Amino acid sequence: MAVIADNCPEIEVIVVDNNEERIAEWNGPNLDKLPIYEPGLNEVVARRRNKNLFFSTKVDEAISKADMIFISVNTPTKKSGLGAGYASDLKWVEASARKIAKFSKGHTIVVEKSTVPVKTAELIGNILGSYNSDSKDNLNKKSFSILSSPEFLAEGTAIKDLENPDRVLIGGDDAESIEQLSLIYQRWIKKDKILLTNIWSSELSKLTANAFLAQRISSINSISALCEMTGAEVDEVALAIGSDKRIGEKFLDASPGFGGSCFQKDILNLVYLCRHFGLFTVADYWEQVIFLNDWNRKRISTLIINKLFGSLSLKRILILGYSFKSNTNDIRESSAKYIVKDLLENNAKLFIHDPQVSKKQIEESLNQEESKELSDIDEGNWVFCENLADCFNLVDAIVILTEWDEYKNLDWEKISNSMRKPSWLFDTRLIADKVEVRDSGINYWGIGQGLN
Ligand code: UDX
Repeated sequence: MAVIADNCPEIEVIVVDNNEERIAEWNGPNLDKLPIYEPGLNEVVARRRNKNLFFSTKVDEAISKADMIFISVNTPTKKSGLGAGYASDLKWVEASARKIAKFSKGHTIVVEKSTVPVKTAELIGNILGSYNSDSKDNLNKKSFSILSSPEFLAEGTAIKDLENPDRVLIGGDDAESIEQLSLIYQRWIKKDKILLTNIWSSELSKLTANAFLAQRISSINSISALCEMTGAEVDEVALAIGSDKRIGEKFLDASPGFGGSCFQKDILNLVYLCRHFGLFTVADYWEQVIFLNDWNRKRISTLIINKLFGSLSLKRILILGYSFKSNTNDIRESSAKYIVKDLLENNAKLFIHDPQVSKKQIEESLNQEESKELSDIDEGNWVFCENLADCFNLVDAIVILTEWDEYKNLDWEKISNSMRKPSWLFDTRLIADKVEVRDSGINYWGIGQGLN
């Protein structure tokens, strides 16, 4: 919404949320403390806030003023009840539709921005339609058009992706509303990048895009394990296969596994949908992408334990990176969380560093407060490392889990001198220079490196 406001100064954009604390943060004086860390976002907000971009808790009032409403609520995987563990919980979408139905005035274009299961537009349409026919007062008659316009931005590069997207997708059947939305995007995006489809294709394309992307990561991670057995190197294999234009070079970085709020959730959703329609083999096929990801995380934690003589008791390990990828403070489904949990269960003493993730976030995700004593940290517990330079002292091993820039050019010679011997580096992102690491006297393991 900030990028729309930035590109369309004549459009008034109001972002509403029930959460007063969050809205206060968006309106706060310190632009470095916005609720989301996203490179470049604070500059856009600084340019447009209180000009044509507003953050408010007055949901009902904003709905009644709006010509177009983007439903951008979260749709987490259901934890209980029918479809638990697979289906998306649409309660916030439903609640939004009810509010829109109640408070909107005149004709309103409702755009599904949240990632949703196929046929959600039908649910929204049913709710809006029922209020429509309820209206006795002809003057205040409401009408709605529903469009699907899923978001393809990736975190960490959100502003860049929004400014220059590969494509924008608009699904729907009301030509006038499609044109209205398309005209907004055309203010800064070439028309031929705006794809128009029917509403169901649009909804399904979002799930399919994420499933294909996640599948590539599971594919390369599966091959990285084989590389380690055979003497091949996964980065060389990725380069060799990625040079084939049909395969393409992107999204072939071996890793501790994909995280983030989308990939797992969307595949689970796809799997649920396939089973619902009796497509069991298709469902099983996609579910393997998740199984492989889970297996890959376990493989890494098990490997660390084995390399450290089968026991982490009394061992001090430094974790570099907790967010699910660099340039974000988002830790949802981060592989780091799963690997850290495994190491803690095996009684390691962990030091955890991340340039953007806070101690509070880590505490909440692990459901475990940090150890009180930095000097004598408990077994199976952790402490938050504020300053990277202070973190290396007397640790037995370092595990790189997120590819933050500050971890790319570390002085391994110096670090080696402060570690306890024999010392180890486990690089799950292949960002350290393995020759420098080995020369410094640290044992090296890199994902998919056959000569480990
Ligand atoms: C993803 C999609 O890319 C985006 O189009 C969609 O709108 C939302 O979901 P996001 O989750 O923000 O975006 O991040 P992405 O860059 O796709 O990375 C997801 C995960 O895959 C991260 O954990 C990342 O580290 C991992 N990854 C990515 C790899 O392990 N290897 C790669 O080569 C690329």
